[in-house]
Amino acid sequence: MTHQTTTIDLIYQPVREQLVEVEKQLRNLVSQSHPSIAGLLGQVAGSPGKRLRPAVTLLASRFHEGDGELPVIMAAAVELLHVASLVHDDTVDNAAVRRGAATISSMWGDNVAVLLGDYVFASSAVMVCDTNNVHVIRRFAETIKELSTGELMEQFGAYKWDHTLEEYKERIYNKTASLFRTAAESGAILSGAPDETVRALNSYGYNVGMAFQIVDDILDYDGTEEEVGKPVGHDLLEGTLTLPGMLLIERFPEDNPIINMFQGKDVEDNRRRALDMARASGVIDDAYDVARQFTNAAAAAIQNLPDTSERGSLLELASYVVERRR
Ligand code: FPP
Ligand code: MG
Repeated sequence: MTHQTTTIDLIYQPVREQLVEVEKQLRNLVSQSHPSIAGLLGQVAGSPGKRLRPAVTLLASRFHEGDGELPVIMAAAVELLHVASLVHDDTVDNAAVRRGAATISSMWGDNVAVLLGDYVFASSAVMVCDTNNVHVIRRFAETIKELSTGELMEQFGAYKWDHTLEEYKERIYNKTASLFRTAAESGAILSGAPDETVRALNSYGYNVGMAFQIVDDILDYDGTEEEVGKPVGHDLLEGTLTLPGMLLIERFPEDNPIINMFQGKDVEDNRRRALDMARASGVIDDAYDVARQFTNAAAAAIQNLPDTSERGSLLELASYVVERRR
């Protein structure tokens, strides 16, 4: 067991039993699916994800005495939406490996990957309907629009090197923080918590989600394939400029390797230079500072909630998001 697994197990402790129920929901979906789909589904929904988003939903549901079953359903739906978006994302990103395993698109082609993503995505929508809560169903649908908006912003912004920080934040809000926000908010809503609590957890989810994506972007420069379970340095190859690269361009505007590679010059050489420069120049530390501003805001958002083990876990989870190497 790695150190990080131990940490995450401790964080999940207050909702351990509900997380087992979530896994059961996911397994049920696999076993109830058409045999031609079940194998692929088991591969993506049963693979060793961190289950961060469902844990957030469950922890957020524990600040009010409500029906414990509804947050479990929601948590499973949130994880499935995440899984669906990854299957689609790996297809548009031409990614060969995720979580240490071959992606659906690389094994079965883009057609199968798009359709499997659709199936998982629709399954998550069916699950949310089982909450019978129109507010949550609406928030879920809005989130799908935001995820797609974020991914399209990334596509249309590819190979541009003059992104502003505001544009970057808008993009990562849509593609990642929107789902963390909905994960937390929906858990709170389904527990019947008062508006003030829902707002606090909504803000927590937003800020943790922003930090999560910034760290994801940092690890693409600073991590190893073994740590993150996918090749690193891939964002630049796809023309995706993220925070470390933006800071690198700001600091070294002359003969910048990222600008060079986005112009098609000596792509492999410049990519390697960009990663080396990012590691050597301190922009990684600066990007971590931005991520920590968001996790500090996440902690501040829930400071007035009751001092329970669930709140402690949410605070630990925010720290974990920045410290993680996978
Ligand atoms: C991973 O980002 C991708 C996302 C967080 C969102 C993907 C969203 C979609 C494909 C659109 C919506 C899909 C559905 C099913 C409604 P990344 O490429 O930065 O991270 P990675 O390095 O882990 O691939
Ligand atoms: Mg990707």
